Amino acid sequence: MQSTKVSQFDAKYQKVEQAQIGKGAQGSVFKVVKRSDPNGKVYAAKIYHAEENGAEKIIFETEILMYTILPKSQLFGKMVEYFDEADRKILILEFIEGHLFKNHHDKLPIEKDLSTQQILKHAIQMTQMVLLLEKHDVYFSDFHGENIMVNKNGDLVLTDFGASARITDRAGQINPKGFLAAQIMEKFQENKKQTAAQFKERLFNEHHIKQLINHFKVLSKLNQDKEDEFMVAFEEMIKNMDKQYKEMVFRKATTIYDTDEVDFEEKQQKQDHYGTYYSNLSTLESCGTYGGKFALKSESALKISSMSQKVLEKLRYIVFNDAALLESTFDDHETFQTYYDSFFEKMF
Ligand SMILES: Nc1ncnc2c1ncn2[C@@H]1O[C@H](COP(=O)(O)OP(=O)(O)OP(=O)(O)O)[C@@H](O)[C@H]1O
Ligand SMILES: [Mg+2]
Repeated sequence: MQSTKVSQFDAKYQKVEQAQIGKGAQGSVFKVVKRSDPNGKVYAAKIYHAEENGAEKIIFETEILMYTILPKSQLFGKMVEYFDEADRKILILEFIEGHLFKNHHDKLPIEKDLSTQQILKHAIQMTQMVLLLEKHDVYFSDFHGENIMVNKNGDLVLTDFGASARITDRAGQINPKGFLAAQIMEKFQENKKQTAAQFKERLFNEHHIKQLINHFKVLSKLNQDKEDEFMVAFEEMIKNMDKQYKEMVFRKATTIYDTDEVDFEEKQQKQDHYGTYYSNLSTLESCGTYGGKFALKSESALKISSMSQKVLEKLRYIVFNDAALLESTFDDHETFQTYYDSFFEKMF
């Protein structure tokens, strides 16, 4: 039966131009404006391709869930609203004016003329992205150049949260939600002796360090000046990350976990997690059906010892003499100032 219902999306938005501005495996992205404000703000409408097996539904729902869980940060794209219509699903996103960081199989970023400062800024922003993801319990698989955009200020913005999952549930157990859930659960069950905390720490550390190494290697190719001490230090850091990554993979292949010892720690973590959960119940209503179904905006209470945090700290040393870059590695001016001053206090 033909649906006679008017599309709510079509009633509210119109395309600025017919041609799509982006295309991925799942969707086509168009520039749109509100019909009520045709000369006003431009948005990006990601229209999912309907698939025969209906696979787009879970990806669409995952993307909404991730936009709901993740904090509103300059580093992440922002969802405005969504339309779940009979024959298509649509996300309305804030429009990112800029270009892709890199085409998937290209060896270099789209912009090849980057200064040392810009290279390090990109490295810092990528590290902050993965740190925010892990803090909020989000495993984001496609951390590649087509999902990272460079806006007109030269800052990086992560988009496309379809291939993701949230790892733990309210009780701090591994209970993934989202498109990648089954895959992650399977990984977890491969080794029955590891605790939730151990699994999660390894999952994030391994994935994030690997992604950062790949991107940093690409960035370091943009400046081969052997006299540039920032780049020399950056290269040195990448070598160290490479070494740590290899050691981590080796340890994983050889470690046997002692579950008795970690039991107590896990119990405590579980209690902490409940505490965070109950103190955040008021955030549950958030983003309508999909967001509301699982949304919990609190940071994950299952804390991990983060390799990405260590990478950020190393980057701080490298950019120490560049106040603007150094400050960009902190959440706010005060924390930066305290960090900065503490170095000089030690000297005098
Ligand atoms: N908010 C936005 N502003 C401007 N352009 C965007 C925006 N979001 C996406 N794009 C463009 O559209 C392209 C495709 O979008 P996206 O990566 O979200 O879809 P996809 O790759 O089909 O998703 P999936 O990985 O779930 O299949 C991006 O590479 C980018 O060029
Ligand atoms: Mg994409």
